Amino acid sequence: MDLSDSFEKIPVNVFSTPKQGSAFVARQIADFIIAKQKKKEKCVLGLATGSTPKSLYTELIRLHKEEKLSFKNVITFNLDEYYPIDNKALQSYNRFMQTNLFNHIDINPKNIHIPNGEVAKEDIKEHCRQYEKMIKNAGGIDLQILGIGNNGHIGFNEPGSGIYSKTRLITLDNSTRIANAYEFANISQVPRLAITMGISTILQSKKIILMAWGSAKAPVIKKAVEEDDSEQVPASLLQNHDDVTFVVDEAAASELTRNKSPWLTGDCDWTPKMIKKLW
Ligand code: F6R
Repeated sequence: MDLSDSFEKIPVNVFSTPKQGSAFVARQIADFIIAKQKKKEKCVLGLATGSTPKSLYTELIRLHKEEKLSFKNVITFNLDEYYPIDNKALQSYNRFMQTNLFNHIDINPKNIHIPNGEVAKEDIKEHCRQYEKMIKNAGGIDLQILGIGNNGHIGFNEPGSGIYSKTRLITLDNSTRIANAYEFANISQVPRLAITMGISTILQSKKIILMAWGSAKAPVIKKAVEEDDSEQVPASLLQNHDDVTFVVDEAAASELTRNKSPWLTGDCDWTPKMIKKLW
């Protein structure tokens, strides 16, 4: 047994670059879609937005165009959407998904589900209830793709989100609004609210893959993977799922004990660089 495992409560697959990690995840998705096609079954995918899955979607589009991967049997449910927002606004996740994936593949538009940022305030509760119901009616999510916020959020489940939470309206953390401000003209334009699948919605997925790239994500990846699970780091609640994998690049893995202090894992090659690091 690799002793580094004893620090990590979630399997972490490390790739040299985001492109390689994304190609690995795209292959898993493609194989899964094809296996379902052979059985004449639908394949239900949970999808994320943001900068992290962009290279994944580029690769899925490539697989569609160059390797004839069809999405005709695919049903999708997106994690979240800002509220309120015009579906056609540049920053809306509805628009993001059309531009970055759906416009380029052969998915049936009827099979696409994204929380609606245009719904009237008094209808939000019912909209969220219906979203949960549609996921259930589709047979549940087979494979959920996640990114992670610097504060540990998954979907827009900000710190404090409970393990039993379902699709609902949530107030965005200020840190999230700052992190996402680059998509808007300025911070005051970033919506204060969002509709998000809950932690329990996510945990009900049969399989979960969380992706993270870059050193800015390294501290939260360590917390989610190595520390005790806590509502303060929502991604750490994934420790309670039995088929979850983190796919990260080397920079995002750099704070893991196996990289930061490998002598603690008992799995250390005592190169001069390592000796210097310890002393
Ligand atoms: C987006 C989502 C969020 C993002 C997270 C990371 O649908 O669910 O949890 O995955 O905020 O965002 P990026 O990828 O932009 O760093």
